[in-house]
Amino acid sequence: MAEIVKINIDGIALEVTKGTSILDAAKSVNVKIPTLCYHEDLCVAGNCRVCVVEVEGRKNLVASCAAPAEQGMVIKTTTPKVRRARTDIISLLVSEHNTQCTTCYRSTNCELQSLAAEYNVDSERYLSVLKPNIQVDKSSYSIEKDDSKCVRCQRCVRTCAELQHVNAITVAHKGRDMKISTFMELPMNEVVCVNCGQCVTHCPTGALTERRYYHEIWEAIGDPDKHVVINTAPSVRVALGEMLGYPVGTRVTGKMVTALKKIGFDSVLDTDFTADLTIIEEGHEFLQRVTKALKHKEKVALPMITSCSPGWVKFIEHMYPDHLDHLSPCKSPHQMFGALTKTFYAQKIGVDPSKIVSVAAMPCAAKKFEANRPEMKSSGYQDVDAGLTTREIGQMIKQSGLDFVNLPDSNYDSYMGESSGAAVIFGATGGVMEAALRTVYEVVTGREVPFKNLAITPVRGLEGIKEATIKLENVVPEYSFLEGAEVKVAIAHGLKNARVIMDQIKNGTSPYLFIEIMACPGGCIGGGGQPIPTNDEIRKKRIAAIYAEDEGMPIRKSHEVPEIKKIYETYLEKPLGHKSHELLHTHYKKRNRY
Ligand code: SF4
Ligand code: SF4
Ligand code: SF4
Ligand code: FES
Repeated sequence: MAEIVKINIDGIALEVTKGTSILDAAKSVNVKIPTLCYHEDLCVAGNCRVCVVEVEGRKNLVASCAAPAEQGMVIKTTTPKVRRARTDIISLLVSEHNTQCTTCYRSTNCELQSLAAEYNVDSERYLSVLKPNIQVDKSSYSIEKDDSKCVRCQRCVRTCAELQHVNAITVAHKGRDMKISTFMELPMNEVVCVNCGQCVTHCPTGALTERRYYHEIWEAIGDPDKHVVINTAPSVRVALGEMLGYPVGTRVTGKMVTALKKIGFDSVLDTDFTADLTIIEEGHEFLQRVTKALKHKEKVALPMITSCSPGWVKFIEHMYPDHLDHLSPCKSPHQMFGALTKTFYAQKIGVDPSKIVSVAAMPCAAKKFEANRPEMKSSGYQDVDAGLTTREIGQMIKQSGLDFVNLPDSNYDSYMGESSGAAVIFGATGGVMEAALRTVYEVVTGREVPFKNLAITPVRGLEGIKEATIKLENVVPEYSFLEGAEVKVAIAHGLKNARVIMDQIKNGTSPYLFIEIMACPGGCIGGGGQPIPTNDEIRKKRIAAIYAEDEGMPIRKSHEVPEIKKIYETYLEKPLGHKSHELLHTHYKKRNRY
């Protein structure tokens, strides 16, 4: 049994498990200790010392994030000595900081800014030692790196290494020269970075941000010659509210649609439409591979792996280039959307595709890179002109001056605005697999998946790698070769977990037939473009909102959506057909690690 220790924090007596940090112990009794290098998702670095506290009987102050609570400890968190030390540390950080809060993207959402205000830091206290001529690295389509705003907390380095197993950024040099750098100090677009944006959501300041494109979109909206179309990803609707005065986990779908229409987007459509389309295409691709392997005994790459997460796609291109044949050829939903916007949709609304500006509102930083991949031009134009993050959409709504909370709800525009609950759950880890199983199981057996209320619970939740096995019984004649087969599937989120799955494939020990992988912890609800902060408590609330949205939908399965059926009847002809290959599928590229 775990040993319990008795301690006292600011006069509050409490008992905690031995080994609990002083910081966590304080949190458990609602005593807030400021932090900077600490993040719930990461291992403790203990390098900033903003979290210092006084422990009775100890001469030196103690970093509360790194020090375990010990039997009988009496801790004080706000003594004059503690406050002086914190003020000193923050003042020193400010003295080497490019304090441009009036123009900084992270202003009002910056941990250094909050600390400086909270501790009333005097910027004159120490001479500025900010190095001159620090260049902002804007080489990447997804990530901007501004070393002049870095507090050297190394949260980004730990994120990239611990959560993502990419190691694109590292600590270079020592002492005053220490900085966050890359392999050979190359620009961000030349290193192994997969553009996931997790370093951005874990950075406390404006040192790492997404590349912003909303200025260009404001210009396009103001241009009467342009028809600006936006599609919004499932996870944006459950996180956007956090930036606009709502508690975490509030769904703001209808208000978001109204706001985008009021801002001036000519068409507001739903990425869920192409999420449903992904299920139809990917589901058929999966069944085709299984048929080839099990019925015709042909050699085919199994397990098949989902491809809707562009950070994951770039990861496999760099790290497992010999296994690209396992990836589904389906583009991510927003790229399918872009290709259809400038072909099918342009025809439907009678607008010249050269006048369409196609915008994707995404939880993701990697979609910005993906939109600029040279192969993403199957409409004859750049299929997606700009990928904006949830944060950029929130910023645009703030800039528009709309009273968001009091807006009425609106529906998405039609042709590519109808969708199912299966598409909504794409936003959470396990959601793509659940959506695929709802359709594939029904195609093979003629019946609904054998789970209450269609909720395939084994694939849900925040466990890093999840598994499920579904037995196929009483199958329809076409799939008689699958009678009695057990389909074993896996779900991984966060690239460190993707590595475990990929190493099994590499070693020939993978027991699965179908795998879902998302680059970001929690899936898209925890994407690199989502509101900051993000941690497990927040991820859980966004996930709950996603499943609530699914349950409230009149249609819960992709293959039952009327607009999906219609687009096959009138335009795409059939799943995996010629037009699908042309517009909805893609190919991948082997990339080097260095
Ligand atoms: S990073 Fe923070 S402190 Fe620095 S300029 Fe931006 S808002 Fe201000
Ligand atoms: S975007 Fe992702 S891969 Fe690139 S440096 Fe940041 S955490 Fe690493
Ligand atoms: S870039 Fe951000 S997360 Fe990385 S060390 Fe600097 S301030 Fe910390
Ligand atoms: S937050 Fe504890 S040392 Fe940085």
